[in-house]
Amino acid sequence: RHETPMLSLDNAFKPEDLIEFDLRTRRFLGLDAAAALSYVAEPKIDGLAISLLYRHGELVRAATRGGGEIGEDVTANIRTIATIPKHLRNAPELMEIRGEIFMTHEAFAALNRDLETAASRGGGVAQTYANPRNAASGAVRQLDPAITATRQLSFVAHSIGAISGRLASGHHAAIRRLGAMGLPISTLCETFQDINAGIAYYKRITAMRAELDFDIDGMTCKVDDLALQERLGSQSAWPRWAIACKFPPETAWTRLLGIEIQIGRTGALSPVAKVETVRVGGVDVSSVTLHNEDYIAGISADGSFIRNGADIRVGDTVEVYRSGDVIPKIGQVDLARRPADARPYVFPSTCPECGSKAIREGDDAVRRCIGVHTCRAQILGRLKHFVSREAMNIEGLGGKIIEQFFTREDTDGVPLIRSPLDIYRLESRLATFDPPLADWPGWGESSEANLFREINAARKVTFARLLFALGIRFAGVRSAERIAEHFGDWATFDRSLEATIATLGHGWTDVMGIDGIGDRTAASLLEAFIDPGFRAMVTALVAEVDFDEEGEGEHRQTPLTGKTIVFTGTLTSMKRAEAKSRAAAMGAKIYSSVSKNVDIVVCGPGSGTKERKARDLDLRIMDEDEWLAILNTA
Ligand code: IVH
Repeated sequence: RHETPMLSLDNAFKPEDLIEFDLRTRRFLGLDAAAALSYVAEPKIDGLAISLLYRHGELVRAATRGGGEIGEDVTANIRTIATIPKHLRNAPELMEIRGEIFMTHEAFAALNRDLETAASRGGGVAQTYANPRNAASGAVRQLDPAITATRQLSFVAHSIGAISGRLASGHHAAIRRLGAMGLPISTLCETFQDINAGIAYYKRITAMRAELDFDIDGMTCKVDDLALQERLGSQSAWPRWAIACKFPPETAWTRLLGIEIQIGRTGALSPVAKVETVRVGGVDVSSVTLHNEDYIAGISADGSFIRNGADIRVGDTVEVYRSGDVIPKIGQVDLARRPADARPYVFPSTCPECGSKAIREGDDAVRRCIGVHTCRAQILGRLKHFVSREAMNIEGLGGKIIEQFFTREDTDGVPLIRSPLDIYRLESRLATFDPPLADWPGWGESSEANLFREINAARKVTFARLLFALGIRFAGVRSAERIAEHFGDWATFDRSLEATIATLGHGWTDVMGIDGIGDRTAASLLEAFIDPGFRAMVTALVAEVDFDEEGEGEHRQTPLTGKTIVFTGTLTSMKRAEAKSRAAAMGAKIYSSVSKNVDIVVCGPGSGTKERKARDLDLRIMDEDEWLAILNTA
């Protein structure tokens, strides 16, 4: 578990977006355009994020990012990398260093050459790496540290997680101190005052890119002042004080061979273009997303034209692009090269998996299969989501294995796994199953034991993860976390649900009031849980698991821990966004509307009806001074 979460960066795709970032930052901090604000620009290295924990200057742990909270322990492998110091000079008691592991072009070419030589000697086919990032990642994840040791890996430190004390008042100066302690740092960091200088940096680094001996995929821009960074805080997975400005993605032209329809867990019919394999951005691409039927027709979500209104047809010559790890997409269509017999694509109106009708509701661009409980693809999609890494993380139940258990039926004709609940009952159902699992093709006693060990380990789960794992539309990781934070435990959540169902007609007001949860998400949750079958399944599922709120309870206690707070009116010392962000950082739950469930209402001038309602309900009301006094206790 990282000492502080490993955040990612918000992305911008053109340098002019830096101006918007500057405006946003100033707005949050209440700084006008003339106020001084320093930034630091750095190259964004395209490698593998790593967190190094030093205690008293000794390297004690190295971990990958993982989901941001808990990474993979790769200490033994990292210790073999010569450029990462095992001892630091003059280091503070505790320091978590974040940086990038990467491979230079030279090291990468040498590795692939060696792999090929070794393969040809052994008479096999070489398993070479597609690009330096994959090679670096592969090297760090080797099971045998002796293999990692043979790979020439480089490292650059670019930020600091937890630290006792502080190294400097600014980011750039702190990074230089890391350099003095013996850590490799970038020589290309620059501080600037005017955001236009950031745009100039982007242009310079773009021009330098081809000359560099390592891959970069853009630049980063960070607020230099660490006190301001703290005020800016973070939202979901990235800090408000930094942004990545990515290079335009690489593109290539190829031919569209056919369009396939995939059905996801929400029943969405997702069109996928099969293209003649083409190399883009260091990988071979043969499948490209086409989003939805409007996209194929050349119409965007707001009704305007995409590609000047050109549709996409089988046989077309298309431009494929990909940036970072995202799924490749289609840019342009070359109409001049369209075959004379190419016909507009007719999107199916039935589900190709189960034959149910596929319909579009309201202004949704997505066509969905209506067989929610009967469509094999939807059921499997939900199960695969449930066991996926971000959800319950049951590695032993990969896609193929889930399908195996879904296809095998018991004597009553019921699939062995049809719902998440079945996963936890699998062991007891298989106890009397004929033939025993160990005798199934591809299975044995040890793989059977491993599977049950993993399933049982996945009984320990947090409220947020379980809610997310259920795969309800719009209930993403962040929404699930907010809901879990708000209700605290499943029983409270369930009571609120019960009360809502009993007084139908007004929606799930408790959920709708949570800051950052839209009405759309609240409606989708209610729609899912109002189904008695689904609710019964979840109730039984909750009885099978063991809620683990470890980590949440570890936060330091503050006067706001666990308190529900509403901000209303204007504060003079900070914007409301900053007030909310700081209250959340102190463990408060932020609510947007006043009700009896609210503990504190901070009222600035102009708070009007919310303040009146708070007085009627006899809630604790704070003015700005009291609020500032609370902040000072942090
Ligand atoms: S700062 C909280 N600086 O890019 C801020 N990240 O897309 C943490 N990266 O996960 C990141 N070069 O692994 C930062 N100079 C740089 C970087 C950099 C590469 C990676 C990093 C991060 C990812 C986000």
